[in-house]
Amino acid sequence: MKKEKILVSAALPYANGKIHLGHLAGAYLPADIFVRYHRLKGTDILFVCGSDEHGAPITISADKEGVTPRVIIDRYHGENKTAFEKFGMSFDIYSRTSYAVHYKTAQDFFSEFHKEGLLKTKSSLQFYDEKVKMFLPDRYVEGTCPKCGNESARSDECENCGSLYEPSELKSPVSKISGEKPILKETTHWFFPLDKYENRLKEYIAVQNEKTGWKDNVLQYCKGWFHDGLTDRAVTRDLDWGVPVPLADAKGKSIYVWFEAVLGYISAAKKLFEERGTPDLWKSYWQDENTRYIAFIGKDNVVFHCIIFPAMLMAWNDSNKEKYVLPENVPANEFLNFEGKKFSKSKNWGIDVIDFVSMFSSDSLRYSLGANLPELRDTDFYWKEFQARNNNELADILGNFINRTMTFVFKHFEGKVPSLYELQERDSEMLNLLEAVPVKVGELIERYKIKDSVLEMMNLARTANKYFNDSEPWKTVKANTDQCATTLNICLQTIYALAEIFSPVIPFTSEKIFSLLNAKPVSWDSCGKFNLEEGHQLNAPEILFQKIEDETIQKLVDGVGKSVEEHAKPAEPLLTFDEFKKVKLIVVKILEAKPVPKSDKLLQLKVSLGDSTRQIIAGIAKSYSPDELIGKNVLIAGNLQPAKLMGLESQGMILAVDSAAGKVSVIEIDQSIAPGTTAK
Ligand code: 2FM
Ligand code: ZN
Repeated sequence: MKKEKILVSAALPYANGKIHLGHLAGAYLPADIFVRYHRLKGTDILFVCGSDEHGAPITISADKEGVTPRVIIDRYHGENKTAFEKFGMSFDIYSRTSYAVHYKTAQDFFSEFHKEGLLKTKSSLQFYDEKVKMFLPDRYVEGTCPKCGNESARSDECENCGSLYEPSELKSPVSKISGEKPILKETTHWFFPLDKYENRLKEYIAVQNEKTGWKDNVLQYCKGWFHDGLTDRAVTRDLDWGVPVPLADAKGKSIYVWFEAVLGYISAAKKLFEERGTPDLWKSYWQDENTRYIAFIGKDNVVFHCIIFPAMLMAWNDSNKEKYVLPENVPANEFLNFEGKKFSKSKNWGIDVIDFVSMFSSDSLRYSLGANLPELRDTDFYWKEFQARNNNELADILGNFINRTMTFVFKHFEGKVPSLYELQERDSEMLNLLEAVPVKVGELIERYKIKDSVLEMMNLARTANKYFNDSEPWKTVKANTDQCATTLNICLQTIYALAEIFSPVIPFTSEKIFSLLNAKPVSWDSCGKFNLEEGHQLNAPEILFQKIEDETIQKLVDGVGKSVEEHAKPAEPLLTFDEFKKVKLIVVKILEAKPVPKSDKLLQLKVSLGDSTRQIIAGIAKSYSPDELIGKNVLIAGNLQPAKLMGLESQGMILAVDSAAGKVSVIEIDQSIAPGTTAK
C-alpha cells in the first residue's frame, strides 16, 4: 500500500518578539502532536515552520533600538528557534523569510501574476513622515476623527464611531513614529483581485469541509469575510524592508508581508531539500495532488490561510502545469489567555516559553496546555491549574502507575517481565482496552480533537491504576504467584502502550519510559499489543515527574503582571561596576576556522581585531562547522590570561550561550560594527 503523504505547516511567527504560551496553545502544540502521531503511524510527513521577518513593526523596533532590522530578526529568529527546540517542537525545518530562496519564491509568484495581467495598479494619497522618510502604515498615524471628534482615531478609520474616511479628512494627524505632522503624498500600489476568486473559494471551502470536517469557528470566520464581499487587496507597500517588488518602476516598494509570508511554507520546503542535497524533492509534497496539506494557525490568521493563500495558489495553478496543493484543512484554535486576561507584552502580562522552560519541564507544560487547548473557545492558563495537572495527573496518575509497577517487578521478579498465565476477566478487559485506546486516540487526533485525545491518554493511565489496585498483586504475590505474574506482565505492556500513546504529547518523558523498559517504540498500530517478551530485562525505575511545591506556584501567582526576573529567579550576588569593568569585551571578525586534531569539541580560530589578529581555541565544534563561522563578527573576552588547550594557545574566549540539546550559540555582532570595537 502506498504511504499516505502529508504536509503540515505551522504559522510563521514574527521575528519581532518572543514566543509565549498563547502561541503554543494556538497553533504549535496541536501541530506537533498531530505530526508526531503521524510519524508513528508511518505517514510520510513534512513539517515546516520558520520566522516571518518582514513588515513595518520590525523596522519600527529596529529604529527604536537604533539597530538595523537584520539585528532584530537575527535575535528573535535565534531565540524563537531555541525556545521551540526546548519545548520539543519537531519541525523538519525552522526556515526564514529572509533567505534568498524565499525572495525568489515570492518574486516568482508576483511576476507570474503580473505577467498574467492579474494585478491592477491604483494611486492614492497616503501619510508620509518626512522625518523618518517613510510612508506610515495605518496604525502609525493618529488624529482626530472628522465625524465624532475622537482624538485617537487611525488614519482611515475611527474605532470609536466605526466610520471610515479618506486619510485627507483626518484632523490634526500625528506620526506615531516621529511625533511630527505627516504630509499626504501620492503613491501607487499593485492590487490582487480577490473578488475574482470569491465563488471558487466558497466552493473549495465547502468541498474540503465536506471531506475533512473543518472547525466551526473557522467556517464562521470565513462566512464573515464572504458576507462582507471580497475586494481587491493591495499586495505592495512603501517600505524598503521586505521582498522588493520585482518590477522596474517599483523602487522602494516591497511585497506586502502577508502576501509573501504564506509563501514561506513553500520556500521552507525548498530550503530543506536544498540542504539535504535533493533540491527538487519539495515538489513531491507541494506539487503532488495526493499530498494532504494541513495548515495549523491561530484564529487571527484565518483570512490569510483560508482565503488569501488559497486564492494565490488558485491563481498560480490556473496558468501553470505544476500545480500546488491547497490546504485540505486549517484547524485554527481560539486564544489562550493568561490568568484571566489577554497576553500582552507591553503590560508584562503572560510568560514567554523560554522563561517557562527554564523553570519547569517542557513535558509538564505540553501536557497541561494539551489538556486545555482553546479548540472551541478561548481558554485560560492558570498557574494553579498547571500545578494541579503536573502534580495530580502526571505525577500521581501516570508517574505513580509506572513507578509502582516497576518497583514491584524489581522487588519480586528481579526486574524481568513476568510470564503470562491464565487470564481473568479483569485481565482480558484491560488487554482489550490497550488495543482500543490507541485507535480512539488516533481518531481524535486525526479529527483535530487534540484536547480530547490528551484526556483519553490520561484516562488509560487512570484505568491502569485501578486495574493494579483491583488485582491486588501485593496479595497474589503470596497466594497465587501465576496470577500475580500475569497482572504485572499486563501492567508492563500497559506502560509500553502509555509510553507510545503519550509520546506525541510528552516526548521527552516517553523516551525516558522506553529507556526504563529497555525497549523502543515500534509503530502506533502495534502499541496496544504484547510488545515486551517474557523474561525481558528492564532498567531500574526512576521518578519521572517532580511535584511542584505550593510555595513555588504562590510566588508565580503573586508575581503575575510583574517581570519574571523580579519574581521567579533566585537573586544572584551582584558585582560592583569596577569589577565588571575589568573584563574587556572586544568585537572580532573570524578570519579562519579549522578543527583541532583529535578533538571533537574544539575549533582553532584566527580572528581579526582590526589592527591585529589572535588565535582562539573555542569549544564550539559540536555546534558549528568551521565554514559557518568564517566572516562572523563575535565578542571575545579579550584580556584573559592565555590558556593552553590540546597544546594550542588560546588568546581569549568567545562569548556564547547554551541553546537546545547541548548546543551553544555564539553571540553575533552586527556586520556594521568594526572589529576591535570594545563593548560597554
Ligand atoms: O501572526 C503572525 O505571527 C504571522 N507572522 C503569521 C504568519 S503565518 C504565514 F503566513 F506565514
Ligand atoms: Zn469617530
